[in-house]
Amino acid sequence: MLGVTGSIAAYKAVELVRALTTAGADVRVVMTASAQRFVTPLTLATLSRYPVLTDESAWDARMPHLAAVHEADLLLVAPATAGRIARFAHGLADDLLSTLFLACTRPVVLAPAMDADMYRHPAVQENLARLRTWGARIVGPATGELASGVRGPGRLAEIGEIIQTVTEMLCPQRDLSSEVVLVTAGPTYEPLDPVRYLSSRASGKMGYAVAKEAAARGARTILVSGPSALSPPRGVEFIGVETAMQMRAAVLDRLAAATVIIKAAAVSDYRPAHRIESKLTKRDAPLTLELVPNPDILREVGAQKGARIVVGFAAETGELVQRARQKLVAKHLDLIVANDVTQEGAGFACETNRVVILDQDGGVEELPLLPKRQVARRILDRVVSLRQQKTGCTGQG
Ligand code: PMT
Repeated sequence: MLGVTGSIAAYKAVELVRALTTAGADVRVVMTASAQRFVTPLTLATLSRYPVLTDESAWDARMPHLAAVHEADLLLVAPATAGRIARFAHGLADDLLSTLFLACTRPVVLAPAMDADMYRHPAVQENLARLRTWGARIVGPATGELASGVRGPGRLAEIGEIIQTVTEMLCPQRDLSSEVVLVTAGPTYEPLDPVRYLSSRASGKMGYAVAKEAAARGARTILVSGPSALSPPRGVEFIGVETAMQMRAAVLDRLAAATVIIKAAAVSDYRPAHRIESKLTKRDAPLTLELVPNPDILREVGAQKGARIVVGFAAETGELVQRARQKLVAKHLDLIVANDVTQEGAGFACETNRVVILDQDGGVEELPLLPKRQVARRILDRVVSLRQQKTGCTGQG
């Protein structure tokens, strides 16, 4: 998440958004009212490919700004004016960006930009020192000619320096750089006739979060996804499929390359026995559909896993741990991530999930309700420690 505040250096946010997206980041921009006097939200929305959040966004009952800050991996504020730094240092929540600063639980990077005397003022220095003690990383400012014509400290740090700082903070772990992670996500569509299909309520959010996290941690990542409204994550090899049979073919085709398989997809267990070539017409009589079982892709993968780490998911509506353990054993999995999809905030289509991770040694790790990206992190932490156990290798590339 990039906060842009009202300094003349706000025009450099255009270059910054471009550089961040080129480096592979998904950027959500938040602009203060005064930043919008220097550069338009339309420019930054076009470059970031997401709507820009402004103070008006806070007046939305769905609270998209809070969802965005909870999903963010890092909050970068560049340029950060003296006024903004003071607001942050004193915990004010009087506009959207100040509120998001307080709501942000991820690392914060500030790139100050202001006139030299303002920057040297003890108030600004004390505020920056206070923010540092809370864990904020301050990048810059650079010294040089300022907009006022004066020379001194206060120029926004070079874009390259900001990107480097963000990269260091976002990717401290490259602990999956020796892995090829194959993730499945979303539902499958099993066509019934040319206009109808059998499916599930899966959105793809859980699997996409796993793929994003794996890629961020250095893995070559392959995402095989059923139909989803989500955009393919950057830096991930993406294969879109519709049916369970297509998903099976895509997974088996890439299996030889993969060292880790994580199956978050909700694969339809059945498909219609016969494809009906023209639209079923309405009749005043019951309709019976004949369904045949789809192959269990995960079971096939588990049966030929070799040195691979295989992680399944289990979507349950009761007896969570017992049923998930049966699947773990039957499908020869290393780990299974079980979610009770009847629970509030868990399972299908929501931003969060509450999961229990079971392992082959009988271990049961219950995680609290977390954003799906954090659930993904915890699953991949387990994959890394399993790899260390199996090979004694740290996976650092
Ligand atoms: O996509 P979201 O909206 O974010 O929702 C996330 C989720 C609820 C779909 C996800 O968290 C989840 O639980 N995914 C697994 C859903 C599922 O199909 O569970 P299952 O218990 O029926 O299957 C067990 C495992 O076998 C799964 O890893 C599944 O991918 C796999 N399977 C199942 C059937 C089949 N024919 N082939 C398979 O590979």
